[in-house]
Amino acid sequence: MTRGLFVTLEGGDGSGKTTQAELLEAWLRERGRSVVRTREPGGTDVGVEVREIVLHHRGDIAPRAEALLYAADRAHHVATLVRPALERGDVVLQDRYIDSSVAYQGAGRVLDPDEVRRVSEWATGGLSPDLTVLLDLDEESARARLDSAPRRFDRLEAEASEFHARVRAAYLDLAAAEPERFLVVDASRPVDEVAAAIRDRVGALL
Ligand code: TYD
Repeated sequence: MTRGLFVTLEGGDGSGKTTQAELLEAWLRERGRSVVRTREPGGTDVGVEVREIVLHHRGDIAPRAEALLYAADRAHHVATLVRPALERGDVVLQDRYIDSSVAYQGAGRVLDPDEVRRVSEWATGGLSPDLTVLLDLDEESARARLDSAPRRFDRLEAEASEFHARVRAAYLDLAAAEPERFLVVDASRPVDEVAAAIRDRVGALL
């Protein structure tokens, strides 16, 4: 079966995933590749509605319900957009995937990270990225970036910085456990240096 390339971007809020995805997309298009750039939550029409609930619902959502909402978004996204694109041979550049659920939902200390992962693996039929770029940003730089770009704060961004520190640690653990899938880049480096590091790794996979 012809198969494209599935690249996911992960990192804390404010780590520069969007900028890097745009730069990588432009570079891939210059090389003549078909690119689908997408995100979770919210990469489909159903996902937009789920995104509104998980990010902007007023009041608490039970942790298991929240995890299932992300997984529901993911199931629909993979089935209707990601798998068809990969089957066409496209490169899929995706902002957040299963690692986000493991890092964020697991970091709340209520849910078992392995259980969170299993739910998403079931939801996606076990689709794993070819490459996951982790844009690692220390807490101080992450805060500074968010504060300098004020916008509508979502529920998660409003949570304590301690939570973000746990998310970061969870991501680094995931990367250490699967070094062949992950590229960890220090996101406090200049944008073009980060982009070059990502291009090197993606170029090797094409
Ligand atoms: P988004 O506005 O896309 O943030 P960012 O630009 O930082 O990617 O919001 C996504 C938020 O949803 C982010 O705070 C992380 C959270 N999230 C989870 O908690 N679990 C998940 O499975 C996913 C995909 C996202």
